[in-house]
This record gives sequence, C-alpha cells and structure tokens, in this order.
Amino acid sequence: GAPRFRMAVRSNVVSVNAPILTKLQQECATPLPVLRQVADDMAADMRAGLAVDGGGDLKMILSYVDSLPTGNERGLFYALDLGGTNFRVLRVQLGGKEELVQATEFEQVSIPQELMFGTSEQLFDFIASGLAKFAEKEGGKFHLPNGRQREIGFTFSFPVKQTSIDSGILIKWTKGFAVSGTAGKDVVACLNEAMERQGLDMRVSALVNDTIGTLAGARYWDDDVMVAVIVGTGTNACYVERVDAIPKLQGHKSSSGRTIINTEWGAFSKGLPLTVFDKDMDAASINPGEQIYEKTISGMYLGEIVRRVLLKMAEASGLFGKSVPEKLTMPFVLRTPDICSMQQDQSKDLQAVGSILYDVTGVESDLHARKIVVQVCDTIVKRGGRLAGAGIVGILQKMEEDSKGVIFGKRTVVAMDGGLYENYPQYRTYLQEAVNELLGTEISKNIVIEHTKDGSGIGAALLASANSKYDHDC
Ligand code: GLC
Repeated sequence: GAPRFRMAVRSNVVSVNAPILTKLQQECATPLPVLRQVADDMAADMRAGLAVDGGGDLKMILSYVDSLPTGNERGLFYALDLGGTNFRVLRVQLGGKEELVQATEFEQVSIPQELMFGTSEQLFDFIASGLAKFAEKEGGKFHLPNGRQREIGFTFSFPVKQTSIDSGILIKWTKGFAVSGTAGKDVVACLNEAMERQGLDMRVSALVNDTIGTLAGARYWDDDVMVAVIVGTGTNACYVERVDAIPKLQGHKSSSGRTIINTEWGAFSKGLPLTVFDKDMDAASINPGEQIYEKTISGMYLGEIVRRVLLKMAEASGLFGKSVPEKLTMPFVLRTPDICSMQQDQSKDLQAVGSILYDVTGVESDLHARKIVVQVCDTIVKRGGRLAGAGIVGILQKMEEDSKGVIFGKRTVVAMDGGLYENYPQYRTYLQEAVNELLGTEISKNIVIEHTKDGSGIGAALLASANSKYDHDC
C-alpha cells in the first residue's frame, strides 16, 4: 500500500545520498597531519611575504601602527567601518586611564546590494552621508574642545597598500565587492572628496584594516593581546611583529621596535582539502583563483558551499523529491546564518531545519533529508573552523620561533571578532579543538582565544586618537 511505498522512497533517498555524503566527509576531513601542514605552510608564507612583496600568498602589509593603545587616550573620536555586510559609524569619548571609555554611540546600516556593484563615488557618497547624519546627532555626553576638527579612525577592510598611517591604496576588492574606479586609488582621498561633496568637515587621522582595529581595541583592555583574527563575511589576521624580523622593511623607524602586520591571510591556498563544490564556487566567483582560504572558512561562502552540495544531492538522487527545487539553483540563497540556525535544531523531528529549508528553497523535506542536510552543514563548518584554528597556530608558531618561548611560555591572547565566530557555536568549538590538538594541553593553557565584541570600532577611534594632530591630553 501507499505507506510502504513511501517508506521505500525514503530509504532510497538515504542510500543514494549516502555515498555523496561519505565522499564529502572524506574530502573535507582535517586530521592532525593536514592541520599541521596548513599551520606550517601558513608560517612559511608569512616569512616569504615579510622577505619581499609578492614572496608568497600572504601580502604581509605594513600597517604603520607601531604603538598600541595605552589607556591614556582622551577626547572625542569617530570611527567609520566599511568592510562586509554592514556599514557602521561610531563615536566615543575617551577619558584616559581613570575613566577609559566614558561614552559611546553607534549606528549600523546594511550596505545596499547595488552599491557593491556601483561606482566608487556612489559608495563613498553613501558612507559620507551616513557619517554626516550621524555626526549631526552628537549630543551632550560628547565634547570637543572649541575650534577643533573632528577626527576619524577609518576601518576599511580590504587589502590596502598603506602609504602612511592615514593613507593607502586599494589593491583589489574582496568579499563580493566589485565597485568600479577604486582599485589603485587612495581610499582616504576618495572619502575626503565625498565628505567635501557633503560639506562635512572631518579628518581621517588613521586608516586601518578591521584586524588592526580589533587588535588595538582588545589591547586597550588586555596587554597580552598579540594577534587579532576576523572570521566574518571574510577572514584575516594581524599580529605584533618585530621590526628586525621584516627584511622587506627598509628605513622604517619604529620607536617601539615593533609594528603590526596585516597578513591578508584570506589569500592563503596551500594544502587545503578542497572539493569539486569549492572549485566550482571559486570558478563562478568574481575573483576566481583568489582568496581560497577565505572561500573555505568564512561566512560569505559556507552557506553557498552547502547549497552546492544539496543541489548535487537533489539532482543526483532526489534528496527533496522528484524534481529539483528551482530556488536551490540560485547562488547564495542559502546563507551561513541559515545553516547556523539549522545546526542549532535539537528537536527530534528537526522542525526548524524543515522550516528553514522550506523558507529558503521552498522544499518540503522529510526527517531523513533533514538529517542529511544537517550533516552536510556540519561537515563544511567543521572543516572551516578547524582550518581557521590551524591558521592561528601557524601565526603563533612563527612568532614563537622568532621569540623563543615568549609566546608559548606565557599567557598570549588572540582577539577574535566577526559574525561567524560570534554567532556560530559549532564553528567556535571546532576552531578551539583544532588549536588544542595542534598545541597540546600544556601550551594550549597559555593561549587564550577570546571574543572582543566591537573592538574594531573602538580600536580605530583609539588609533585616531594616537595619531591626532592635536595635543593628546585634552
Ligand atoms: C577580507 C579583506 C581583509 C579583511 C577581511 C575580514 O579578507 O581582504 O582586508 O580584513 O576580509 O573582514
């Protein structure tokens, strides 16, 4: 009868999809030797990029930030943050060692899709007008001494060749941005021109990557922070380096003997366990062959990889019934927050998984299909989190080799930020597990991997203060 027939179809779905799932799990596996190789290659690529520009996958960009916040910063500063899904503006009143952050306010808007494909003027006009509206609302808690220009820390989270602390040229866009006319230009000049068009009189006193902002923001509260990592829409890391360990750096003077390096590790590519789904996604992307590590571990891409696997399962073996759901063929319909929500479903019938699948792709799914979907999500997220952990160990390992015991032998903090790290518990767990496996229990005890929320905004403001054209103590 009918029920028996339905049973037969169901078990058929499972058995036909099982080989695809098993193959996926095998190809995405990240056992210790794979992780170790990634960590070693990451460390080697860092050295290659420090030796000479273009020496390896990693750009190892000089940030011109030679000193990190001390807590003595005072005054009113603004921060602008452009880099992923959202655009943020923030103001902060800094009160020095006694009062630290006295007041802070921020606003956030998502970046309209069309601006990501528009012209440079359109994008910067949007930023400048957002900033102008926000600045108008400055209220009583904030105070700027008479006659002073408002100063901004500009967090611009794309690969920029810094030319000084307050200028830098966009090398190329990443993370799905394809704005025309910015690459090769000084992004601070672009912003200044847009502010002029708005009649807005403010000055950028620091241009920083989001990793640098995060490191500065975290260091404000904790002196042991040596590395900052973003795992959000995209991914990147920066760390404190010794000036004498940077051969390509000639004539750069740093009173501290240290400087911060923006690794741009998203471009890393060696030894990653990739599948046909990754390769197809890369080929279809706006930057094929680039940012391979980023495409394997960051938020913009994890949902899309899962979608590609599910589409294959739907086509090859009817995971969602006889026909392939139309919406499942649309690139990027399944977002990383969707796969995250599905993985949090603890219910027996995977009710939430079913309704997310229905909302996103329009399919009705049975319990067997839902179980497979959750396993696919887990496979992709596990690979991403573990590879991110291996990258972190690569950086720590490089620092340890150069400093003999200073990193592993005492408390060292890695400041983390980004939506994926913040919101995806399984990802966080996988990342931490990989770090522990690689370092072993003794060393892991000293390495603190810690979320710094909104550190990058405050961090940029702190760096604006450190590079203010006015006297520091006002
Ligand atoms: C991309 C950008 C990089 C940024 C990272 C995280 O990889 O190229 O500059 O830090 O995303 O936002």
